Amino acid sequence: MHRILIDTDPGVDDALAILLAMKSPEIRVEALTTVSGNVYVDQATDNLLRILGLLDLSEFPIVAKGEAQPLVKPLVKAEHVHGEDGLGNISKLYMSDGNPRYPLAKCDISQLSGVDLILEMVDRYPDELVLVALGPLTNISKAIQKDREHMQKLKSIVLMGGVFSEYGNVTTTAEFNVFVDPHAAHDVFNSGVPVHIAPLDVTHQVALTGERLNTEVQGRTDIISRFLKESTQACMEFYSEHVGFYGLHIHDALPIGMLTHPHFFQSVEAYVQVETEGNLTSGMTVADLRRERRIDNPNASVCVEVDSDAFLNYFLNRILHKQI
Ligand code: BDR
Ligand code: CA
Repeated sequence: MHRILIDTDPGVDDALAILLAMKSPEIRVEALTTVSGNVYVDQATDNLLRILGLLDLSEFPIVAKGEAQPLVKPLVKAEHVHGEDGLGNISKLYMSDGNPRYPLAKCDISQLSGVDLILEMVDRYPDELVLVALGPLTNISKAIQKDREHMQKLKSIVLMGGVFSEYGNVTTTAEFNVFVDPHAAHDVFNSGVPVHIAPLDVTHQVALTGERLNTEVQGRTDIISRFLKESTQACMEFYSEHVGFYGLHIHDALPIGMLTHPHFFQSVEAYVQVETEGNLTSGMTVADLRRERRIDNPNASVCVEVDSDAFLNYFLNRILHKQI
């Protein structure tokens, strides 16, 4: 069983990843921290509570609000992809009795900052806690800056970020999470903690089409099916216009799958560097991923291949609560 802390900026695909993690018996989500990214951190925290509200939980993981601004660069958000509220505008939906269709979970927010909760959880589960990072890496970098030695007690960091052999999704060369806070990504890659990366190159291999989703949720009236349909719609429309298919990539769900079903994934050891300065290349991740190359100083294992069909089937079955 993996004890994990999820650092997140929900985000439609973050929501799918959180649901997947919460429904996975191989995983225990001990805590979640939020960060500015897809949306500002206050909205991200609201969104997280809305996601937790979908689940019938008797006990909540610990939740803390994290950093509002990247280390150096001004914040760049992605509301044009995820909807104005970051969750496809589901926060604006109401029932006929006037109550919100997706209410916030009645879950306390910790008095600790995201950074301090990360350090506290490492303390609680030394050499056991896995940090799963689904947004810009600001909180994690700040935790490293605050107590680098302490962070060595993390078992590993599994993150969605970067792009190596394809075009980026913000600029030609950069993926969103690394683009938003490249200085933080640099700190994380050079932290000395084992880092596992799911870059765009593999998350692009898993497309959830609108057609597939419709087939899966057809005839179902449960709240998760409804949420899946309603929260992904704006994002799918964006994809239809700008990416070329009606659907979406479920980027942030991949790090969860890497923990629960590692045999779906193939990775290579690499020395990953981040461009923090370039005018045209800010946030670019650079590494030689050729399998035949011997790397003397790897700082990360980078996922290069996923069994897309197996992963997508597993993902849908898990979050829609069928057996797999
Ligand atoms: C990443 O960017 C965000 O918009 C998604 O939530 C994901 O974490 C993909 O590049
Ligand atoms: Ca994200």
